[in-house]
Amino acid sequence: MNDFEYRGGELFCEGVRLKDVINKYGTPLYVYSRKSICENFDRLSGAFKGIGHLICFSVKSCSSLGVLKVLKEKGSGFDIVSGGELFRTEEIGADMSKVVFAGVGKTNDEIEYALEQNILMFNIESEQEMERIDSVAGDLGIKAGIAVRINPDVDTKTHKYITTGKSENKFGVDTKKGYDLYKKAAGLKNLEIKGIQMHIGSQITEIGPYVNAVRKVKQLAEEVVRDIHPIEYLDIGGGMGIIYKDEKPFDVGAFAENVIKEVKPLGVKLIIEPGRYIAGNSGVLLTQVQYFKKSSDKNFVIVDAGINDLIRPSLYGAYHRIEPVSIREKNRILCDIVGPICESGDFLAKDREMSAVAQDDYLCVFGAGAYGFVMSSNYNSRPRAAEILVNGSEEAMIRKREEYLDLTRLENANM
Ligand code: LLP
Repeated sequence: MNDFEYRGGELFCEGVRLKDVINKYGTPLYVYSRKSICENFDRLSGAFKGIGHLICFSVKSCSSLGVLKVLKEKGSGFDIVSGGELFRTEEIGADMSKVVFAGVGKTNDEIEYALEQNILMFNIESEQEMERIDSVAGDLGIKAGIAVRINPDVDTKTHKYITTGKSENKFGVDTKKGYDLYKKAAGLKNLEIKGIQMHIGSQITEIGPYVNAVRKVKQLAEEVVRDIHPIEYLDIGGGMGIIYKDEKPFDVGAFAENVIKEVKPLGVKLIIEPGRYIAGNSGVLLTQVQYFKKSSDKNFVIVDAGINDLIRPSLYGAYHRIEPVSIREKNRILCDIVGPICESGDFLAKDREMSAVAQDDYLCVFGAGAYGFVMSSNYNSRPRAAEILVNGSEEAMIRKREEYLDLTRLENANM
């Protein structure tokens, strides 16, 4: 599943010893494995080989140009949610006919930019957005490819912050409204109906609710095709869960088999928008122990990566496996692994059993490839970490470590 493993007590990424990478680039440091990214892509694509499909990597999960380029070379398209993400795909020379644009708040400027780039389709999330896209496309004299994002109202049993396919969530429209929107779209002359889309949440481990949602959307697609307009693409979103700790693995083979069975009779091409499945276990965050401190009831391991580098544990209570980069001690300790940020919520792990570590040792936070660096910030005026991409026995810096000047570059104290 990933290409980070211990050899003789030393952690490697593919053929590169992480200790050496740290000596060269310092910490905190994000490291990605090219091989892992490619293998995850191939496994997913292989599972869906029984149907014409396009994988659109979800840029929000891991948006460094170096990573996006690897995926472009694999033939991936991209799922974007902002003008900034569109710019990233443009920067790597992505094939814009493989780019889909979701998000509930697309602005006029973003719509114009995407139309000029000739993307495959907008995944529309409201009636007003549909009207706006029609109007902007009309002004530009271009036809906009569209899909309506359907909210199938299913419970994926994932964390409440990352479920998106329930009626209480802000995403998409219900199936009835969806049907009406297709009717409306058919009458708007600057729109071209291309697809139908859903995305019901993230870190989904049960395939049942996901397949049910696909079935609901497929049924609506059948009605649209029968009454309104042909549909070329059925986009099932992302959300395939990965193993952080001891989760039940998402059975991609069984999932694909069920989805293909549902969808094949429609004669559509499938779009899949994975983020975490491809990037999550393909990246780690490396950090250095600064201090070890004992209080009356806790051991604190204080490291140089904080919630500004990786916010998932604090924001979602997410579990990330953490182990030393070099394992020297057999002893295990129970500790909180905390960052340097001035917030009690600044932790990477609580009450964690881990190999004993000493001051200046290095730790590896696993499963940090998706929603890691992309959610990082400069809080406490901390420069953001560097990012490294490993390929076999070589590594390259795909994002420099920020410097203090980067923190103030856009500011002006002399008003
Ligand atoms: N497509 C759409 C429209 C999405 O909104 C998302 C993620 C994806 C695809 C990719 O989902 P994935 O395959 O990665 O599950 N920050 C949270 C996750 C937020 C997910 C947002 N949408 C976390 O750290 O868990």
